[in-house]
Amino acid sequence: MAPAFYRPRMDWHDWHRVYDDPDSVHARRLLTVRARIGEVLDAAPPGTVRVVSVCAGQGHDLLGVLAAHPRRADVRARLVERDPRNAAAARATVAGLGLGERVEVVTGDAALVRNYADVAPAALVLLCGVLGNVADEGMEDAVDRVSRLCAPGGTLVWTRNRKEPDRVPRVCAWLEARGFTRDSLSPPDVRQAVAAHRRTGPAAPLPPPDAPMFDFVGYDVLAEREGRDG
Ligand SMILES: C[S@@+](CC[C@H](N)C(=O)[O-])C[C@H]1O[C@@H](n2cnc3c(N)ncnc32)[C@H](O)[C@@H]1O
Repeated sequence: MAPAFYRPRMDWHDWHRVYDDPDSVHARRLLTVRARIGEVLDAAPPGTVRVVSVCAGQGHDLLGVLAAHPRRADVRARLVERDPRNAAAARATVAGLGLGERVEVVTGDAALVRNYADVAPAALVLLCGVLGNVADEGMEDAVDRVSRLCAPGGTLVWTRNRKEPDRVPRVCAWLEARGFTRDSLSPPDVRQAVAAHRRTGPAAPLPPPDAPMFDFVGYDVLAEREGRDG
């Protein structure tokens, strides 16, 4: 019989059903992420706005904004997602919105910098639904490396659950020690925090092209490990 802590591995396509209930914490998080994306696009100087989405899923955040944003024609985006079903769903949305080649969906490993070639460093980097799936010991490196995809003046929009021990303050501190300024952060009672940090310091070199920036373990696997070890 399966031990009590056992849960089957997450199906990251089915995971997107969290958005079906408009009152869910994830649906509310999505609205906040979209608001932050909209603000970045509103404030972007004229010309091309480069965007990367790390572990993009079905692209509900960025594509939801691009559906109607006046700067949509200026956006050049790369969405990187490992699950081919999610990538296909994102591509279908891109086609449906008439975004053509401005938004490219790569089915691949979002941890590899080479998958962002020609787009990074970007004016907007989305790291949503990722940090809660990275083990504590790898989180600072993940933040350090992914933040390097962000150009000077660019914004990193990121999310992290507030489950105890709350790691959001640490992530803020890591970014702020690396030349980022906090533009916004959800209040502490919001279970799925959304933050926007802008690189106000100098550029940082991109991580090496083939060394993984992070290890997406999965929150289900992390919880399983905690049950076993703790
Ligand atoms: C929690 S979901 C978040 C999706 C999206 N960013 C959002 O907020 O709606 C995490 C996504 O990361 C994808 N993923 C996990 N590891 C990945 C990797 N190494 N490279 C690319 N995508 C990955 C999963 O397939 C899943 O779609």
